[in-house]
Amino acid sequence: MADNAGPETSAPNVGKIHVRDGVAGDVDAVIALDEQVTGIAKAGYWHSLFEGEDAPHAGRRHFLIAEEAGETDPHLAGFIIGEVRAWEFGSHPCGWVFAISVDPNARLDGIGSRLLEEISDCFKAEGVTRMRTMMARNNHLLMSFFRSHGMMAGPYIELEKDLD
Ligand SMILES: CC(C)(COP(=O)(O)OP(=O)(O)OC[C@H]1O[C@@H](n2cnc3c(N)ncnc32)[C@H](O)[C@@H]1OP(=O)(O)O)[C@@H](O)C(=O)NCCC(=O)NCCS
Repeated sequence: MADNAGPETSAPNVGKIHVRDGVAGDVDAVIALDEQVTGIAKAGYWHSLFEGEDAPHAGRRHFLIAEEAGETDPHLAGFIIGEVRAWEFGSHPCGWVFAISVDPNARLDGIGSRLLEEISDCFKAEGVTRMRTMMARNNHLLMSFFRSHGMMAGPYIELEKDLD
């Protein structure tokens, strides 16, 4: 079952958290944390992000890892993925946050905020002035998190239907 209902934290001090670019060696830990948080295993998806078919985007995609600094075998504390996209759906260039997850045992200690701030800096360095994301309507935890960072409903809506 998805574990996005909130923390049960014996949290590491966020001052000891180190944020760095993700590498292929992180993929197993990312897969495990994502499955723990969303309840869905997507190994092929994560491998493709690091190694495969999305390689043409690799230069512009930001995949940031938070881990405890100073450990010989650092523990993955969280990750965030996003990139600057332009003109899909008529949207001006902006930074999209595709996914963020923090270890349930490390929440409410500023790690998610640190990751969001770091990716914001990446987007700003690329010259965009706006950031967007999308989430399930019932993910109140993510909504609270993004709202706490000043993110608000934007000018687009998603439409969908079942295909017979
Ligand atoms: C949302 C998430 C990234 C927040 O990470 P975090 O490191 O705990 O966040 P922070 O400590 O930086 O919290 C920043 C702010 O977010 C809000 N927030 C975070 N957790 C909250 C909670 N359980 N309830 C209400 N507000 C919360 C608060 O406003 C908080 O600020 P405050 O501590 O000053 O009140 C984390 O809970 C998570 O990974 N949740 C699952 C996300 C998910 O579903 N991912 C899969 C789809 S992409």
